[in-house]
Amino acid sequence: MNTGSTNLGIASLGLKLPSRYLDVRDLAALRGVDPDKFTKGLGCHEIALCGEGESVVTLAAGAAKRALARWGGSPRDLGLLVVGTETAQDMSRPLSAFVADELGLRGAIRSYETKHACYGGTVALRQALEWKASGASRGKAALVIASDVALYAPKDPGEPTQGAAAVAFVVDDASVAAVDLESFAWAEPAFDFWRPVGESFPRVDGPLSLECYEKATTECFRQLADGKPLDEVLAAFSAVCFHVPFPKMVKKAVMKLGEANGWSEGVTSALFESKVMPAMDWNRHTGNSYTAALWTGVAKVLAGAEQGARFAAFSYGSGFGSELLTLTAGPKAKEGAWKADVAQDLASRTRIDAETYLAYRGA
Ligand code: CAA
Repeated sequence: MNTGSTNLGIASLGLKLPSRYLDVRDLAALRGVDPDKFTKGLGCHEIALCGEGESVVTLAAGAAKRALARWGGSPRDLGLLVVGTETAQDMSRPLSAFVADELGLRGAIRSYETKHACYGGTVALRQALEWKASGASRGKAALVIASDVALYAPKDPGEPTQGAAAVAFVVDDASVAAVDLESFAWAEPAFDFWRPVGESFPRVDGPLSLECYEKATTECFRQLADGKPLDEVLAAFSAVCFHVPFPKMVKKAVMKLGEANGWSEGVTSALFESKVMPAMDWNRHTGNSYTAALWTGVAKVLAGAEQGARFAAFSYGSGFGSELLTLTAGPKAKEGAWKADVAQDLASRTRIDAETYLAYRGA
C-alpha cells in the first residue's frame, strides 16, 4: 500500500478539559433512569462540563497554549490557524478569531473555522497537512484546534452522552506523529444529526446516525484494506481509534465491521478489546466532545508509543462525512508530554451534584 508517507505531521500536541464534571449515575438518578442503562447500555461514565467563565473558546485557547508552549516556535512561525468546531459562536465570525484574540495572534496568518459536525477537526488537520505538503506554507507551521462543548436539550435521550474538550496540534514536522498524506474518505448526504440555525441543541435520528456511522466505518476500512484481508492489514496497527459519540456506538460499528469482513465474534471482540478500547480511556472522562473526541483518543494512544508504531484514526461527522487517517509515532511520542494536560485537568476538576447540574441547565 502506498501510504503517501512524508515527514509532515504533528509537531506538538495539547489538550484542555473543562473544570467540572457530572457522573452519569447522578444524571440517571436525576432523570429516574436505571444507571446501568447509561454505564452498561451506552458505555458512558462522566460528562465534562464548563464552569464559570469557560467556553468552547477558552477550551480551544487552553489546548493551543499548551501545544504552543511545547513546540518552542514563535507565533511569527505560524501561517495558518484553523479551528474545527460545531459549537460556533457566530454565524459569520469564525471561532478562530475568538481564539486568536485569546492567544494574541495577528498578522501574516490565514485564520478560519471549519464545520462538518464531529468531522470538522479532522478536516482542519487535513487542510493544514495538505497546505504544508503543497508548498503554500512557505516553511511556516499551522495551529489546528478541535474544540467543542456538546450539550443536548435537558432530558433528551442523548443527555448522558454529553461532554466537552479541546485538542490542539502544531502541524509541521512529524516529531509527535507523521500523518500519511493518503487517506480514505466516504460521504453521503443524510439528516442523522443536525442543528438548525437559531436552535441551541441538536436534533438526532439515533438509529439513522448509527446506520450512517456503521456504513462510513465499513466503507473507509474497505478502502484501507484495498482488497487484502482487513484483519491482516489492521495487525500492523498498535491501536485503531474511532470518533466516540458514546462507547457502545463504537463497539456496534466494530462488530458490524467484523460481520462485513466475515470475522468470528471472538476475533472482532478481541480486536475491540485490544486495539479500540484503550484509545477511549480519556473519552470516559470527557464524554462526547464532538470534533475533539477522536483526537482525544489519538492523543491517548500516541502518549508513550514507540517511534514507528502505526495508528489508524477513523473520523465521522454527521451529515455525513468520514475519513480514515493513518499515523506513525514520532520521536516525541514516547515521552507523551501532553499526558500532563489530562492529569492536571482531571486532578483539579470538580464533580458537581445533580442540583448544580439542574441549575446549570435550567431544567
Ligand atoms: N441496563 C443495561 N442496559 C440497558 C438498560 C439497563 N437497565 N436499559 C437500556 N439498556 C441498553 C439498551 O438495551 C440499549 O442497548 P443496545 O443498543 O445494545 O440494545 C442501550 O442501553 C440504549 O438504550 P435505548 O436504545 O433504549 O436508548 P435511548 O432510546 O434512550 O437512546 C441514545 C439513547 C442511543 C444515546 C440515543 O439518544 C442516540 O442514538 N443518540 C444520538 C447518538 C449520537 O450521538 N449520534 C451522533 C453520532 S456522531 C456524533 O457524535 C454527532 C456528530 O457528528 C456531531
